[in-house]
Amino acid sequence: MNSFIPVCEPEIGEQEKKYVNECLDTGWISSSGRFIDEFESKWAKYCNRKYGIAVCNGTAALQIAVKALGIGPGDEVILPAFTIISCALAIIYNGGIPVLVDSDPDTWTISVKDIENKITEKTKAIMAVHIYGHPADMDPVIRLAKKYKLAVIEDAAEAHGALYQADRKSASPKWKPCGSMGTVSIFSFYANKPITTGEGGMVLTDDSKRAEKIRSLRNLCFLPERRFFHNEAGFNFRITNIQAALGLAQLERIKEIIIKKRWIGQEYTKRLKDIKLLQLPVEKSWAKNIYWMYGIVISEKSNINAFRFAELLKDKGIETRPFFLGMHEQGVFRKMGLFLNQKYPVCERLSKKGLYLPSGLALNERQITYISDVIHRILP
Ligand SMILES: Cc1ncc(COP(=O)(O)O)c(C=O)c1O
Repeated sequence: MNSFIPVCEPEIGEQEKKYVNECLDTGWISSSGRFIDEFESKWAKYCNRKYGIAVCNGTAALQIAVKALGIGPGDEVILPAFTIISCALAIIYNGGIPVLVDSDPDTWTISVKDIENKITEKTKAIMAVHIYGHPADMDPVIRLAKKYKLAVIEDAAEAHGALYQADRKSASPKWKPCGSMGTVSIFSFYANKPITTGEGGMVLTDDSKRAEKIRSLRNLCFLPERRFFHNEAGFNFRITNIQAALGLAQLERIKEIIIKKRWIGQEYTKRLKDIKLLQLPVEKSWAKNIYWMYGIVISEKSNINAFRFAELLKDKGIETRPFFLGMHEQGVFRKMGLFLNQKYPVCERLSKKGLYLPSGLALNERQITYISDVIHRILP
């Protein structure tokens, strides 16, 4: 096989074109229009939430979520070291202090057993991030948050449609959608996400006052009764009707999108599970993983790191991406004097040895078999 297999590409259907064309034909191309309201309310409903406020991207969603919780200068927020920089930046942009925790070695999400040690008088929130489509273990996070009166920021950017089994030790455990569990939860709809608006994001909450505040912050905090008068510093984080039109059309077929994502994950696992030098994504009994991106981690027993591995795959026409680099290893934060001399061994191993394989919706069985065969030849 000579053709190139991209790591991910969006799948745009006829309905997306129809809705986007409606925006163009009617002139509703900026941040008002029927698609925004409909996308917000239908996404909130899909996630079992009362309010959805769409914004221009997931990073903005995090920033506004932190602000709407009243987190400001000197306040600490606990988050995993292994995540995208947007999470730490959202705290820093609000004057807060990010406090890091290592990851669970199996799910790669926040290591819940390490959170309590990091709670201080200044802690205001815990930010849990569902990584590569697998839910973080939310029950213990929520229990700690209740115990210490903290907010929970749930980053579900990579976990559209993933499910978490809450209260699993009780007689009646409940499957809950990712995005339904935080005091505020956020999503990204970037082009590589299961549901995309090109660029886009959403903040979800069940609190009407907080929803109102987020709506106001999204749009420069215009006072409704006196336009162009502002009592607070807001942002222009608006989304366009065109983006929401794309998102709504995608949401209409989310069921089949999630089925396809899960199928891709399971097909890779079937073919790769016998390779001893590879760690594959898990699906805990309390989780439904959507395998947003199919991540693999090479054993420390192999001297190949993720970058060398990526080159070998690229030579065979297979595009990959490296895993996140820990927040404590980021140059920008070192320059700020943050996280100096801190060590997070699981995160560091994942960053060195992890990468993700092509996982786009157009991927077919022949390609998965080809990619798996190439990997078998590199790591017998
Ligand atoms: C976990 C997580 N949070 C937040 C974001 C930020 O989203 P965006 O790229 O839309 O700003 C991403 C982006 O991929 C992400 O993976």
